[in-house]
Amino acid sequence: MDRFIIRGGQRLRGDIVVGGAKNAALKLLVAGLLTSERLVLHNVPRIADIATMRRLLEQHGLTVEDLDGTGGTLAVGGAITNTEAPYDIVSRMRASILVLGPLLARCGEARVSLPGGCAIGTRPVDMHLKGLEALGAEITLENGYINARASRGLVGERIVLPFASVGATENLLMAACLARGRTEIINAAREPEIGDLVACLNSMGARITGTGGGTLTIDGVEALHGATHHVMPDRIECGTYACAAGITGGDLRLVGGRLEHLGAVVRTLEESGVEVLQEDDALRVRRTGALRGVDIMTEPYPGFPTDMQAQFMALLSVAEGASMVTETIFENRFMHVPELNRMGARINVHGSSAIIRGVHSLSGAPVMATDLRASFSLILAGLAAHGETILSRVYHLDRGYEAVEQKLARCGAQIERVQD
Ligand code: EPZ
Repeated sequence: MDRFIIRGGQRLRGDIVVGGAKNAALKLLVAGLLTSERLVLHNVPRIADIATMRRLLEQHGLTVEDLDGTGGTLAVGGAITNTEAPYDIVSRMRASILVLGPLLARCGEARVSLPGGCAIGTRPVDMHLKGLEALGAEITLENGYINARASRGLVGERIVLPFASVGATENLLMAACLARGRTEIINAAREPEIGDLVACLNSMGARITGTGGGTLTIDGVEALHGATHHVMPDRIECGTYACAAGITGGDLRLVGGRLEHLGAVVRTLEESGVEVLQEDDALRVRRTGALRGVDIMTEPYPGFPTDMQAQFMALLSVAEGASMVTETIFENRFMHVPELNRMGARINVHGSSAIIRGVHSLSGAPVMATDLRASFSLILAGLAAHGETILSRVYHLDRGYEAVEQKLARCGAQIERVQD
């Protein structure tokens, strides 16, 4: 397993190119199941989860062609020959559950492994299943698998989501594209990645309105055709590197970053003493003075994103004063706390809230990554710490961030990957 060795103390300066959004690209690949024609995606991030999704779609019978030889432009095509999504893939990547709606819509059947929990929570899929049943699917659970049938096809319906679940919104949205009649998804998630998926589906001939407003209306069509789509920039990657500028007292240009995608992150960065300005094709992020403690509560978009919580906690651990971070989306997303405390942070967890008392500086230490975003919070702490930090289990990071050591080293960080 790979490790990172980080020697802290450098102020990061320079340009970092923001890649395609992981949480858009994964679903855009799944949209390839909705048509027998070719879907071409540009600006696909080169990360492990994309490779896993390619394997999943290929075992369904699709072809996923690497058009530019770098993994950045993929063409999804071919016919579905297998409607089962196996445990060994689904258990590695929860986003695999999103093939359920498209398989039902295209083939009238699907057998998908229950994803099970992950490090940050139990991650149930009850809203996905209830919504698909509302569209006419018959669903049973057996031997850890979801068996779903819709032999007479799916029929549009009015669905109210009890929580603005990103995944449930996406599964139902894709299924409804080929249902008979109109579907309304009330209390739909409003994350920008869903807007990107809607734009792609509409370019494939779907009829979807209401993006970003909390209610999505989908008028089903007979079939979708091929299209070409450019994946939106990754707002979480962008926000993560903005924290790198903040914690090191640096000055970065995040090329491709878009202010309007960052929602509450911009306000929180500025409250904590980090300036964010939209320049022509980049976000300019720099520290304007001492870091100040702020209170954060994670919420669905446009609130503060849970995927930025761990990174921000690293930043706040060296801010002046105290901060409180409340995690309302996942039940176990504080696993970075004990590792940050080993580096000298002073963080106490009380239920779903963490109290952070800022310290003057952190000290490098051997630490362990536990999940995708936690692994980057430890990198951020290492960049600011005195001495050397060794981060193990970097495979967590490789699932969702592309070329981290290269992007950081080009801006002056002392970071290297060591293969065990
Ligand atoms: C997506 O996960 C993202 N993953 C997550 O990013 C992100 O944290 C999350 O949305 C929230 O923004 C991808 O897009 C691949 P949810 P998803 O359904 O769809 C509960 C990262 O780091 N829930 O909005 O699984 C669930 O347990 C990852 O990139 C149900 O109870 O998120 C959770 O507590 C981590 N029943 C909450 O809702 C359901 O049927 C939010 O889940 C569905 C969800």
